[in-house]
Amino acid sequence: MKKTILALASVAALAGPVQAQTYPARPVTMVVPFAAGGPTDIVARIVAEHMSKTLGQQIVVENVAGAGGTTGITRAAQSKNDGYTIMMGHMGTHGAAPALYANLKYDPTKDFEPVGMAAGTPILIVAKKAFPANNLKEMIAYLKANPDKVNQAHAGIGAVSHMTCVLFNSQVGIKPTAVPYSGTGPALNDLVSGQVDYMCDQIVNLVTQIKAGSIRAYAIASAERSPALPDVPTTKEAGMPEYEVTAWNAIFAPKGTPKEIVTALSSALDKALDDAPTKARLLELGGVLPSAKERGGEWLGAFVVKEVARWTPVLQASK
Ligand code: MLT
Repeated sequence: MKKTILALASVAALAGPVQAQTYPARPVTMVVPFAAGGPTDIVARIVAEHMSKTLGQQIVVENVAGAGGTTGITRAAQSKNDGYTIMMGHMGTHGAAPALYANLKYDPTKDFEPVGMAAGTPILIVAKKAFPANNLKEMIAYLKANPDKVNQAHAGIGAVSHMTCVLFNSQVGIKPTAVPYSGTGPALNDLVSGQVDYMCDQIVNLVTQIKAGSIRAYAIASAERSPALPDVPTTKEAGMPEYEVTAWNAIFAPKGTPKEIVTALSSALDKALDDAPTKARLLELGGVLPSAKERGGEWLGAFVVKEVARWTPVLQASK
């Protein structure tokens, strides 16, 4: 009997390193919990492209939208922890969600193996081209004077575009009609067509339309202007210094994914972030690359704990 247990133990022990040594032996699914074409999808596809080269297998992006991103993250969190399903989470799914979903089926601080930070994404206050305001102060004045006329797009309760506009709206003192979408990719289409009035969204989704003059950018909520949008004033310059927020997008694997596999994924992400063309694509869209100390799963895990602690009181106060 003892020999059998020993034999089984040695086979099991062998499985770990062997599994990791052959990983990945087939394509890997990266769940993006919002519609295609939005900021999380954009960041995911840019880093996944280079990660696929490093790993020698295709990382296939699967868009699973709903409930501010928590539908896709729940599905990914509950998938097999064999390294063949990973996910692109963000400040909403792994920061705001616990405060906004009483029955959230995952704990951002416990139910994942953090892989690494992909990109910081400063938030902009943007509006339809015909919005009757020439600057942020005029925009805020119009919002306050027309509370029943304006509508604001977002990507579901707890999405970055929801939580950051909850903050903006509460600081301004307004409660607009909120219009939910499966992602800020589709929401942006309606902003361009004038179906919705304004949005708080991540820069990587907006640079192209702002440069094309299809929408208006009133301010960027970061301490400094973005090199990608040098003409867009900061909220501080525009008269609203209290509104400063940058979102982030990061890769996670399900809890229990073998450590060697998580390390292989983290290393592939680092290589993508060090690849000049990949960096250039993220930077030209206004992405902020993680510094050396902000890389890897350990840093991300500690950061998520701080983010949940930071956003929970803010969002509960605004309920
Ligand atoms: C998206 O990719 O659509 C956004 O990240 C959604 C959001 O969080 O606003």
